[in-house]
Amino acid sequence: MKIAVVGTGYVGLVTGTCFAEVGIEVTCIDIDQKKIDNLKQGILPIYEPGLEEMVNRNVGAGRLHFTTNLAEAVKDADVAFIAVGTPPGEDGSADLKYVLAVARGIGEHMNDYGVIVTKSTVPVGTAAKVRAELEQALSKRGVNIEFDVASNPEFLKEGAAIDDFLKPDRIVVGVSSERAEEVMRKLYKPFLLNGHPIIFMDIPSAEMTKYAANSMLATKISFMNDIANLCEIMGADVNMVRKGIGSDARIGTKFIYPGIGYGGSCFPKDVKALIKTAAENGYQMQVLQAVESVNEAQKEVLFDKVKKHFGNDLAGKKLAVWGLSFKPKTDDMREAPSLVIIEKLLAEGCTVSAYDPVAMEEAKHSLGDRITYAKDQFSTLVDADALLVVTEWPEFRSPSFEVVGKLLKQKVIFDGRNIYDPAELKELGFAYHCIGVRTTHKEPA
Ligand code: UDX
Repeated sequence: MKIAVVGTGYVGLVTGTCFAEVGIEVTCIDIDQKKIDNLKQGILPIYEPGLEEMVNRNVGAGRLHFTTNLAEAVKDADVAFIAVGTPPGEDGSADLKYVLAVARGIGEHMNDYGVIVTKSTVPVGTAAKVRAELEQALSKRGVNIEFDVASNPEFLKEGAAIDDFLKPDRIVVGVSSERAEEVMRKLYKPFLLNGHPIIFMDIPSAEMTKYAANSMLATKISFMNDIANLCEIMGADVNMVRKGIGSDARIGTKFIYPGIGYGGSCFPKDVKALIKTAAENGYQMQVLQAVESVNEAQKEVLFDKVKKHFGNDLAGKKLAVWGLSFKPKTDDMREAPSLVIIEKLLAEGCTVSAYDPVAMEEAKHSLGDRITYAKDQFSTLVDADALLVVTEWPEFRSPSFEVVGKLLKQKVIFDGRNIYDPAELKELGFAYHCIGVRTTHKEPA
């Protein structure tokens, strides 16, 4: 089988590389010449554990190709994936101009039957628009080539993308013909060997599945953030509550960790887009509206704690920030809570010294030289009035608190990810603030 993957962003690059890894002939296409030149030399546009090595291995084996030439790549591809960006427009709805331009391009150059698959997260109804673009392009050429469209949403998590792709919880494919189903089943066969399921359904349901999955996960997080905030007010401990509810299998232990709000490229965008799609169709997504507003407020919770601790006067304070990316193991800064927190600190006249293992270059695009970027986590602490833990990178989990205490001007820690033990820090003389976890010991009644 031969496939083309259009768009070498996060999803496209992981998809193309993982298909090559199981022996499929893959060509990845992008309009960005520089990106393609870099990829040919093994330089990746994103950081994802294990990906660089996998790209190089498959390029070396001659199974993975990079080009800017869409015509050449789609000419005789059995399957063409559209994995280009769908940036949110002003109003939160996904902008489909890139997706539809690619569909048109494929229609202008395909030679034989193929399945055109949307892999980008696209609103319900997009596959139908892709089909219309293709039909138009083909009729302009005056040719009669059969094709199918399909929807194959991607569920990979940044930082664990390769594993998620190779060992998926499930593969969801929306199709409208048996022929397309057969092609897609054959393509995914190498991934199904260990019992990973492939679920075929109609196209609109597949498109909706992606939004429903991300919205449900975002809902769990906002719900827990609300509970955590209430725990603080009522003197309960969210860690206990989390264990208490998570042991009910219907609720489950995953994705119920409170923190400083979800970020990234998916949850914020998809929640907004689903609210918008519903509104356009005369329906109000009330739960999701609340999910979104809880999340916006949660991004400010750590800042509010800083302000409260220092008695509202933050001017001239120096703060150390550990972690900038929206979550560990990625350099992705999109919708990162760190940005909201740091902007608020700067507006109050604080100085900020930050360290992140991989996201500092990305962070410079938004924060520029308004903060200092430290060479390691401990350098941020010199003369700082407090430490803020913003992203739970593994290397921040168990620092020498003796060193931390010595370097800081004041022994104060604001932990937005609940990674430390309140009792231990109290013992060591730190003022410790976290999210919904009781920091003063209380005997169970
Ligand atoms: C997510 C989905 O998990 C994935 O299936 C989809 O394809 C894309 O969106 P990703 O954005 O890479 O993936 O990150 P994920 O690990 O899901 O975390 C999302 C956000 O939720 C992060 O900001 C994280 O800090 C936050 N989170 C997660 C919590 O605040 N609490 C939790 O318990 C879990």
